[in-house]
Amino acid sequence: MLKEGLEKQEILKLLEKKLEKDLSYDSGLILGSMCTEPLDFAKKIYIKYISKNLGDPGLFLGTAALEDELVLEIGELFGNKDIIGTFTTGGSESNLIAMRIAKKLRPEIKDPEVVVSASAHISFDKAADMLGIKLRKVQLRDNFELDLNHFESLINKNTCGVVGIAGTTSLGLIDPIEDMGKIIEGEDIFYHIDAAFGGFVLPFLKILNYKIPPWDFSVKTISSITADPHKMGLGVIPSGGYFVKDASILQKIGFEIPYLAGGNFKHFHMVGTRPGGPIIAFWVILRALGINGFVEMVKKCMDNTKYLVKRISEINGIKLAANPVMNVVGITTENGESICEIDELLRNNKWMLGKFVDFNLIRVVLMPHVKREHLSNFTSDLEKIVKKLNL
Ligand SMILES: Cc1ncc(COP(=O)(O)O)c(C=O)c1O
Repeated sequence: MLKEGLEKQEILKLLEKKLEKDLSYDSGLILGSMCTEPLDFAKKIYIKYISKNLGDPGLFLGTAALEDELVLEIGELFGNKDIIGTFTTGGSESNLIAMRIAKKLRPEIKDPEVVVSASAHISFDKAADMLGIKLRKVQLRDNFELDLNHFESLINKNTCGVVGIAGTTSLGLIDPIEDMGKIIEGEDIFYHIDAAFGGFVLPFLKILNYKIPPWDFSVKTISSITADPHKMGLGVIPSGGYFVKDASILQKIGFEIPYLAGGNFKHFHMVGTRPGGPIIAFWVILRALGINGFVEMVKKCMDNTKYLVKRISEINGIKLAANPVMNVVGITTENGESICEIDELLRNNKWMLGKFVDFNLIRVVLMPHVKREHLSNFTSDLEKIVKKLNL
């Protein structure tokens, strides 16, 4: 640490130099991220309210009420107004909270197990590791969809939870959520849906008349849902969301912090100090965009998805890994050769995609910052690379 502080201008110069290596969303090179540039207005609001701490909600009653208001609105969007919920640091924390609840609600199970798809996000492995839960992974069929028979075969007396995914990390696919629910109906099993990505896409796709299978609280067996503002909600980082159908769960297994100035509140969170700024920013985003603004944004992303799908179909040697359901496109080789070399050559040209070695695919997420001209440049580079490799 420096002994003496520096002048502002000098600090800014130093900082800019250090951050030169970062890519920016508007460069068009970030093609594999599920985050994007937040709405401008939301960024300003976030800065203004950066010191709000919902770790001590009694001190920030206005922000706490605003969070409750948001949960209600999201309940409406997700098919049930009577839910409770809270905002988190992201999908990983929300999924960790869900796994903890699944375990805590079944204290009689000595060796608890949770059944998840093989395409579940790594946050479930992390949560299982921390909570001492055994993860039972459901195999996928050739088209990357969850094998329902295998799912059923993994459920046993130790199953405290099952997870359905509404927007897989690798391909944006939706598990057969309603059918999975039927299999566990009547059992004392916590049913969590990971819609970290899909949560703020699917309701709007439905309005756009896409055929979307049921995935939200309209499916009666569902216990909780993860959905992240800092992905397709255009929120600031960090903002995740966790929503629960049965309000009594918080009273049963919530943590208490008796020393807080504002009194004794129960909460689900892993964190103590909790940023209120991103929640206020998200409240502002919902008001600035409204349903129609989100629909318009999602439509643009889907138009770009269709464009990319068409361009890929024109390139010999590669193909879609699966038909996209939302704005996530997986690309694989036609002949089953490893995708890694293509990915490396793309990276050498600074195109940053997601790489899923287990599934032999690279992933483009058509986020709002990805524009048509970026895709046009990307696909012509991709075409040259595939030709060069003679696939
Ligand atoms: C389906 C899904 N769930 C959870 C997560 C984890 O979210 P976060 O990175 O916000 O913790 C991701 C991240 O991409 C995801 O795709």
